[in-house]
Amino acid sequence: MKRIMALAFGGLTLAGAALAQEGDPETGSKIANMCRTCHGMNGYAQIPIAPHIGGESEIYLAAQLLAFKSGARAHEMMTVVAAGLSDTQIADVAAWYAAQTAVANLTADPELAPMACAGCHGADGIAAIPDAPNLAGETNIYIETQLKAFRDGKRESEMMAGIAAELTNEEMRELANWFAAIELEIIPPE
Ligand code: HEC
Ligand code: HEC
Repeated sequence: MKRIMALAFGGLTLAGAALAQEGDPETGSKIANMCRTCHGMNGYAQIPIAPHIGGESEIYLAAQLLAFKSGARAHEMMTVVAAGLSDTQIADVAAWYAAQTAVANLTADPELAPMACAGCHGADGIAAIPDAPNLAGETNIYIETQLKAFRDGKRESEMMAGIAAELTNEEMRELANWFAAIELEIIPPE
């Protein structure tokens, strides 16, 4: 399954990889001091509106920071944060958060996982492809807000725009609840 997805979305993966230069996690750990009040030093969110980012792929993290910087994705806090980072700092801090390990504990029956999402985001909310983020343990409000942003074109992603356009508000709430209920632990590197 993973392999098929990787092949199907191989073009995207390459685009993502081309964006991101290889970062240095050690330098990134110092930059993470600027992020810790909201995302925690290891990427476990400290405030409800901020997502967990520890253990996301380096490609995804760098792509989102570059999107905030370019204005392709807008948020009052993150736009300011990203504007202050050079591309090298973005690569380094992305490498730091990617060096953490995200571990999900799914207590519900995996058979009930939303099939429309699991191929990319995992039944347990740990992403199966590097372009997609983990959803495990994010707040339902965060997940719902992002789905609406994709649907309304406030956040750009060809893939997610098409998927979100098919969902009713009620379905968005249900899907958000599924992923929000998964317990997430973030384990720092040795
Ligand atoms: C004042 C709080 C705050 C600080 C400081 C902050 N962030 Fe954020 N960050 C947020 C919020 C809130 C969001 C959610 C934005 C949205 O709703 O679109 C976010 C989103 C993100 C995302 C997108 C995650 C995803 O799953 O799509 C990344 C990556 C990120 N932040 C990285 C960082 C990094 C790296 C730093 C430090 C250099 C940082 N942030 C500093 C609050 C903060
Ligand atoms: C074909 C792969 C694929 C499928 C299927 C898919 N997604 Fe996504 N999803 C992605 C990618 C890639 C992104 C990152 C988009 C970007 O670059 O901003 C994403 C981003 C998201 C985000 C933003 C998370 C964050 O941390 O900011 C949410 C929420 C989301 N997807 C929910 C869903 C839900 C719910 C479903 C099922 C209805 C679903 N996705 C199905 C690929 C997929």
